Amino acid sequence: MPTLTWWAHRGSGKGPTENTLSGMKTAVDAGFKAVEFDVMLTADGLPVVHHDWVMGRCAMSDDPALAGTDPLTPLASLRARDLRHYSVRGERIPSFAEVMQFCLEHNLQANVELKATQPRDAIRLGYAVLSALSELPEPLKSRVRADWVFSSFYHASLMPLKGLRLALLYETLADRWVVHADALQAEAVHLHVLGATPEAVRRIHTTGRQVRVYTVNDLEIARELANRGVAGLFTDRMDFAQHSF
Ligand code: G3P
Ligand code: MG
Repeated sequence: MPTLTWWAHRGSGKGPTENTLSGMKTAVDAGFKAVEFDVMLTADGLPVVHHDWVMGRCAMSDDPALAGTDPLTPLASLRARDLRHYSVRGERIPSFAEVMQFCLEHNLQANVELKATQPRDAIRLGYAVLSALSELPEPLKSRVRADWVFSSFYHASLMPLKGLRLALLYETLADRWVVHADALQAEAVHLHVLGATPEAVRRIHTTGRQVRVYTVNDLEIARELANRGVAGLFTDRMDFAQHSF
């Protein structure tokens, strides 16, 4: 059976510390060598690490001046400086640059999931991520190029990143997936656990590409997927980091 990598989903598992630096530290302490996190754009174009399109579930305003702020305020309507007024359990929403730095310092492999808040922002997000990568000094930039994986449901976000390690994200495999995979030279496909059927996994493997699956929080399902030759599993379970098959 090929080696299977466990990835800490949303940095530390879906929940109160998801996509935060302290959450990722928990994942490191649990033994994870790889993390997945979500990147979105503020109104003024800063890539930040956050999952939801609207504030309120994770990040609440802690500024009395914003006390009445609608919890459904779209993240994409806020400027980077406005985000200082929001916190995830007392912790600021980190920028993509801060999370990159953290992962590099802790030798974590990363899967950067690009989440455009609306279709017309998809390419803009790709360029913002590319620009942040270009700021990295060598040899860190080369490490990112060699190890990190960039994925998106919005394939347009991946276009500016062509040449890096790319993965198409789907819930279930789309009919014309291979056209997109070829166009982007994507090396992998990431599927929802319900979409990772034996047939879908086989079709992807036939083209020489790897399959990774989200979100797997059950060891029996994990074992089945490992038997199908899946290369990686995204999990919310921090206690799965050391589990092997
Ligand atoms: O990247 C895989 C997975 O994270 C996609 O789902 O909603 O948790 O970002 P979501
Ligand atoms: Mg994600």
